[in-house]
This record gives sequence, structure tokens and C-alpha cells, in this order.
Amino acid sequence: MEQSRIALPIGTTLDRFIKKKQEDFPFATGELSQLLRDLALAGKVVNREINKAGLVDIIGTVGTQNIQGEDQQKLDILADIRFSRALQKGGEVCAIASEENENINIINPQAKYIVCIDPLDGSSNINVNVSVGTLFSIYRRKSELTDQVSIQDALQPGQNQVAGGYILYGSSTILVYTTGNGVNGFTYEPSLGEYFLSHPDMIIPENGSIYSINEGASPHFSDGILDYLSLCKKRGLSSRYIGSLVADFHRNLLKGGIFLYPATKFYPEGKLRLLYECNPLAFIVEQAGGKATNGEKCILDILPDTLHQRSPFFIGSPKMVDELHNFIKHDRF
Ligand code: AHG
Ligand code: MN
Ligand code: MN
Repeated sequence: MEQSRIALPIGTTLDRFIKKKQEDFPFATGELSQLLRDLALAGKVVNREINKAGLVDIIGTVGTQNIQGEDQQKLDILADIRFSRALQKGGEVCAIASEENENINIINPQAKYIVCIDPLDGSSNINVNVSVGTLFSIYRRKSELTDQVSIQDALQPGQNQVAGGYILYGSSTILVYTTGNGVNGFTYEPSLGEYFLSHPDMIIPENGSIYSINEGASPHFSDGILDYLSLCKKRGLSSRYIGSLVADFHRNLLKGGIFLYPATKFYPEGKLRLLYECNPLAFIVEQAGGKATNGEKCILDILPDTLHQRSPFFIGSPKMVDELHNFIKHDRF
């Protein structure tokens, strides 16, 4: 059944919004609704931890590394725990695939959803008071409820997402998500402990005046990428790069722009992770009228082989992504 696009007024609480949307499905069991609420609740807890990061002794690395060989920040681990715990209590999720864990974490073998998550994105920015985020994707498991949950349940193309979203812990905290019927953003009001609809039916501008890329890596970019960047400069576009994917994406979603993370010498497959970084944003951007590709095909069409696989990532305003493609079509990926 088609979900209705009946606009709910600005200021509607997230809970009410989720409930209203569920009413579009007479046979809905409410499990997805509960799952979204669980993620939103964990987001509140993580928001609180981040906001006091400068006050208590929870910043800095813990001296361990995650599966990608990167330093784990204490808040990386904390956020991972908060989200896992919320999903465990909720009971709607059979397993979680997290950036912070090598394998899937099976939590309720009888449940029908599986979640892929980057609990804390942009974590190198925590210690310097710069915006960070959380990214999540929700899928229906592929296996029968009676089967064992396996990694195959997580290895699905982004097209299969039931919902995708992010929380940006920025100058204010905002939760943006889609269930495949448009994109809505909810700003968090900490004194009330509620998210309120602030950005209904988000649409990305067709074109923009911002390009976002880590140009420090330009000695390793392909000629196609370099030529495209020259064009951006010739046109007087603004260069904006925060280094937190969620924050860079959110700005471009609102203002129009393109974000690029191509393959480089250090990251021959690109740096960003398909399952929990590229896919949720690709789902959102397509729902908002934008595009997301790996330079060759749509991100959402890629069938993953491994949990932590990386991909080159180009995402943003549709005309900008199309134009970029004219420059990189002879690049080898
Ligand atoms: P994470 O903190 O989850 O590991 O993600 C960091 C990512 C992403 O947020 C950002 O877009 C990118 O790393 C920045 O990478 P560079 O420092 O190579 O530009
Ligand atoms: Mn990340
Ligand atoms: Mn992370």
C-alpha cells in the first residue's frame, strides 16, 4: 500500500509523526515504529554524552583500534553501546552490523529487522567541538524467522532498505530519516526531551554552489576528478569540508552541493563504508531528489560482499553528480 504524503504540521513530535505514518498500513505490527523510536531514544542519550564531552573524562582515545585499524574514541564505543542497548531492549532487531564490530552482533534471533550502523561518525572531530553524527540503515532480514541469523542478512543492496537515516549532533541536534516516502527532519529540543518536525518533505536543490572534498589528498586523485575540481573553482563554487560525513551531507542537502570521496592511494576502494555510511545517505538523497553513485553505478544498486566494504562516494544535487560523471566516465574504478 502507498504511504500517504499528507503533510503533518511543523512542530509535530517525532512520536506522533511515526504513529500517523504507521496508520497508513492497516496490517503494520508497529515493530518498525518501535525500532525508529529506539534509535531516536539512543540518539538522545548519545547527544547528552557528546554535549558533556568537554566536561568529564570521556574524551580521548582508549588506546584500542577498531576493525579498520583506526583509533577508537571513548565516545565511539559509548555510542555503540548506547545504540546496541536500545535496540536490544526494543526487541525488534535480530542483529546489528556496526562499524565498531568485526562481525554482526546477534541480539534477538526471532526478530525480523537488521540494522547497520555507524554509531559515531566524524569521531576525530569530537575533541575539537565540531559536529558529529550517527548513521543507520534498517533492512528486513533475508532469512526465515526460524533460520539462524547470518552475515548474509546484512549483505543486502541499499535498495532493500526499509528505512535509512542519520542524527546530526550539531549546533542543534537533528534526526533525518526516510522510509521511502520522502525525507523528514526533526530537531531535538533538549529541555523537553522531544524531537519536533522542523524540516518536512526535504528536497535537495537541483544544483548548488558547494563542493566538499578533502583536497589534501589531491595528488592521488584521478585526472577526471582533478578536472572537475578545476571547473568548480573556475565557476567560483565554495569549498566546504567539515570531515564529518553527516555534517557535510546535511549542509549540502539543505543548500545544494556535491560531496566527493574518491578512491585515493591510501584508500584504493574509497574510504567510506558502503553499509552504514553510503547506503543510508544514498537512500535519503534519492528520496530528496538527489543522486549518489560510486562513479559508475548507483550506490543503492551495489550488492555488498563484506560488512565493512568501502566505496568511492559521490553524492548530492542531481545536476552536479551528473556533470561530475561526464568528467570521470573514463576513470577506472
Ligand atoms: P568515522 O569517524 O565514523 O570513522 O568516519 C569518518 C569519515 C567521515 O565522517 C568523513 O567524511 C571522513 O571520514 C573524512 O575522512 P578524511 O579525514 O580522509 O577526509
Ligand atoms: Mn563514519
Ligand atoms: Mn564511526
